[in-house]
Amino acid sequence: MRLDEPKVDRFNVVERVTHWLVALSFLYTTLTGLALWSPRLYWLAAVFGGGPTVRGWHPWGGVAFAAFFAFMFRAWNRQMRLEQDDRRWLRLAHRYAVHNEEGLPEAGRFNAGQKSLFWIQAAGAVVLISTGVVLWWPETMPRALRLTAILLHPVAAVVAIGGLIVHIYMGTAAVPEAFRGMIQGWVRPGWAASHHPKWYREVTRR
Ligand code: HEM
Repeated sequence: MRLDEPKVDRFNVVERVTHWLVALSFLYTTLTGLALWSPRLYWLAAVFGGGPTVRGWHPWGGVAFAAFFAFMFRAWNRQMRLEQDDRRWLRLAHRYAVHNEEGLPEAGRFNAGQKSLFWIQAAGAVVLISTGVVLWWPETMPRALRLTAILLHPVAAVVAIGGLIVHIYMGTAAVPEAFRGMIQGWVRPGWAASHHPKWYREVTRR
């Protein structure tokens, strides 16, 4: 990195700290949840202090994730609303996947794929948290609610983990500089102009 390299601010410090707290709490809750879910993955419990520790702390990991995610949701939900151009982008998303961006509407601060994933993660979080509360004190819950939670909690977890795998791939291997944006807070003008042209014009017009 050259010190005089031109920079475009991408994420401020509050956004970055919030994002990494969401990520850490989600990873902890996911890995401890997988340990509780399947005997084949129970070895993960040893990594996190043993079975009883994992059973005790997994729900609290979920509470931390809920709190951090709620903060992130509050900060970003307006910017994540899908507009007309985003719907068109989604219809042509296959072109983005094969790097043929001809005819694809220009992305703002977040592209339509990122926005969609945000809403999938938000819906997943609501289901995980509400069913998680039921499973925290199962003996106090009506049977129907308990059975619904037993079914929906892992389904929502699989969707959230699937979304996260795509997200991590996109944020690291597929679009490498994005990761620096989330660590150091800035990106190169060339990166901003090619990945988020509408946003780049907005921030450089000021
Ligand atoms: C643990 C590994 C994770 C990595 C490596 C990672 C990486 C990143 C990166 C590089 C960005 C910036 C993308 C850009 O500038 O366009 C980003 C943004 C974001 N991250 Fe993560 N993230 C992780 C976990 C999570 C988790 C667990 C969540 C939520 C459940 C999450 C939600 C978001 C959201 C909503 C954004 C903004 C929209 C987007 O770029 O998709 N991230 N992440």
